[in-house]
Amino acid sequence: MAKLAINGGAKVRTKPWPSWPIWDEREIEALEATVRSGHWGRLYEDSQVEEFEKAFAEYQDAKFGIAVTSGTAALTVALKAVGVDIGDEVIVPPYTFIASATSVLQNNAVPIFVDVELETRNIDPDAIEAAITPRTTAIMPVHFSGRACDMERINDIAARHDLMVVEDAAHCWGAMWNDRKLGAVGDIGGVSFQESKHMTAGEGGIILTNDEELAAKAFSYHHIGRIPGRPFYEHHYCGWNFRMTEFDAAVLMCQLGRVEQQTQRRHENGLYLDEQLGRIAGLTPLRRDPYMTRIARHSFAALYDEEIFGVPIEKFREAVSAEGVGCGGGYPHPLYKNPLFAEKRFGRITEMIEYPDYGDMYLPNSERLCQELISFGQAYLLGTREDMDDIVRAVEKVKQNVDELR
Ligand SMILES: Cc1ncc(COP(=O)(O)O)c(C=O)c1O
Repeated sequence: MAKLAINGGAKVRTKPWPSWPIWDEREIEALEATVRSGHWGRLYEDSQVEEFEKAFAEYQDAKFGIAVTSGTAALTVALKAVGVDIGDEVIVPPYTFIASATSVLQNNAVPIFVDVELETRNIDPDAIEAAITPRTTAIMPVHFSGRACDMERINDIAARHDLMVVEDAAHCWGAMWNDRKLGAVGDIGGVSFQESKHMTAGEGGIILTNDEELAAKAFSYHHIGRIPGRPFYEHHYCGWNFRMTEFDAAVLMCQLGRVEQQTQRRHENGLYLDEQLGRIAGLTPLRRDPYMTRIARHSFAALYDEEIFGVPIEKFREAVSAEGVGCGGGYPHPLYKNPLFAEKRFGRITEMIEYPDYGDMYLPNSERLCQELISFGQAYLLGTREDMDDIVRAVEKVKQNVDELR
């Protein structure tokens, strides 16, 4: 008789998993109070957005926070604030969400993709150094899934080549590099509060920095070029309206109250899974370097060795999912494979600026990560130790009965 649930056997897990987003009466009361206040945008005294900016920046070990409408807006403004301009090159990894690179395009600059390390999934500092040209103005390390990049090396490279470091800290709520939270370890950074993220108002983002001048520029760019203290209809720069609403800030203040405890739980559960799943031949959890002192774990990921398991990864994922433990993968392809890049669909700017031939690119580690990762979602990591054991049991069961999949 078949043992695996995919073939009709009993499931390892029938209980539901923690769901996301998490909210309670606090969010409802905060939203109701905001509706009743009649102050829905941040243009008033005692703005909740300002209160949230201060509270989140302090939580994240940054001096300044500028709340915006999304993580994409945060990165776009951050790049503009550090002076990235037409034709400049910005070094980014291709194993990330598209916004890491489109924020560069939005500033009429050129994303230069360099590979990530297979073992950490983070940008490879050696590859950064090799890609620097006289046109390079910034580096964008992406702390993917809240796993810190090697910021000591990246900041050192930036200092030696006079470059700015703009952190894509979209996944870094509570994540730490050498016991310091991320987002303002480089010059400036951007965080996302989109719905899947560990603090959310449905959408939203924040720019973090320790530099007062950059904070002032970012504030002005997100506020249509206005400067505090100057007349309302006096615009100094070509900015955007990326202001966060009071509703978003009201919800995010509630979410901020939970993030520390939730992050610690995901971190500890992640370490446990590293250890338990790491014992299974054919699975290699991503490497945790000593400076990754707390990993936010936007998902749990491990590399899958098809030769050792003897079945294609999709089949393995399906079988684990059938056991009641939803098992996903990574991105389907590196960013340069998107039609946007492969065909340079950037408009007439391509007649003025030289872009690499993205369509011919092949960065092996990024390509492998797209094919060889298994992953479990962030909400799973909010479970108990027993819940983590269910993940391990499901994986072990599929491994032990892998013949049923052939
Ligand atoms: C690594 C990374 N950078 C940037 C973003 C952009 O954030 P948002 O969706 O809030 O615009 C995301 C969102 O998924 C992301 O995962």
